[in-house]
Amino acid sequence: MKQTMAAKSRSKTISLLALFIGILCLYFPVTTTAVVAESGAAVDLLYLTLVWPGTLCRTGKCCMPTKGKPAIDFLIEDLKTMDQYGQIIQNSKPKCSFSINQMPSLIPDLYSNWCNLSCPCNNGFANWNNTWCAYGQCSQLNQTDYFIAAFNMTAKANLLNAFQVNNIVPSASTSYKLRDINTALMANPGLSTHIECVTVTDGASERTLLSKINICISADGLSFINCPFDIESTCNRELFFYPFNINQLNTDCDYNYVGSSGFIKMANEKHLAM
Ligand SMILES: *[C@@H]1O[C@H](CO)[C@@H](O)[C@H](O)[C@H]1NC(C)=O
Ligand SMILES: *[C@@H]1O[C@H](CO)[C@@H](O)[C@H](O)[C@H]1NC(C)=O
Ligand SMILES: *[C@@H]1O[C@H](CO)[C@@H](O)[C@H](O)[C@H]1NC(C)=O
Ligand SMILES: *[C@@H]1O[C@H](CO)[C@@H](O)[C@H](O)[C@H]1NC(C)=O
Repeated sequence: MKQTMAAKSRSKTISLLALFIGILCLYFPVTTTAVVAESGAAVDLLYLTLVWPGTLCRTGKCCMPTKGKPAIDFLIEDLKTMDQYGQIIQNSKPKCSFSINQMPSLIPDLYSNWCNLSCPCNNGFANWNNTWCAYGQCSQLNQTDYFIAAFNMTAKANLLNAFQVNNIVPSASTSYKLRDINTALMANPGLSTHIECVTVTDGASERTLLSKINICISADGLSFINCPFDIESTCNRELFFYPFNINQLNTDCDYNYVGSSGFIKMANEKHLAM
């Protein structure tokens, strides 16, 4: 496992420590979700997680949001604050206020590109609020700029286009080589990504499906940076990029399916006034 030592050390002690941790990491690669840095640690980068809805719909139930219409594209899950070792920095402020009215011009983008297709149907608000409260407030950006940064960088990454020009298009029958997917992503200058997959059983065989793409971004939200840490790969050498279309989304939002025991009646989520 390669470890790029992009550590911008602040002192000799820190650089020695970084070297030590770097050597450790050669043997024990850092996983992004395992560790949470102590609050007050410096935010070195933003970590944008984009999810492919076709995989969500293939591996579980997916639901039409109660507001807006999702883009047929990678969707924003969150924008984490991290240190250079890939430790998540979160909840650094005791109080949180999230106000959608501060950024009315972003509401259409929130509905189309930052929606939550999990069931039960929801309007996305809880995810925006939680993301801002957990991570956004630890960043150096104000609320509006934090959300703009996520949208700007998602548009700049233009993942579907990067795939398409390399003949990687959604398909339930054709698999792709992880190497070719990485090559397509690297063709986008400056883009540094971590790819995540999920495994599904398809009859007797197992398939890995492209699930998420994480992108490393500078702390000011303006540019792609080389990810200074690795994550353990969850992808096989061959993987699928499943199709997604709006018809896959369940619109029967009065019901919440609970495993094999059947359906339970759920109250319709109240639409938040915005
Ligand atoms: C998405 O919505 C589901 C169901 O409403 C909820 O359980 C889940 O926590 C949400 N995900 C995020 C990332 O907010
Ligand atoms: C937003 O999230 C914070 C922290 O997770 C929570 O305390 C607060 O109740 C949420 N606000 C709303 C309006 O849901
Ligand atoms: C957010 O920060 C930017 C840049 O510093 C500034 O132009 C903008 O007015 C700020 N917005 C709010 C709502 O504070
Ligand atoms: C977002 O992109 C626009 C247009 O490219 C640019 O003017 C703006 O400075 C960017 N803002 C942020 C916060 O990234």
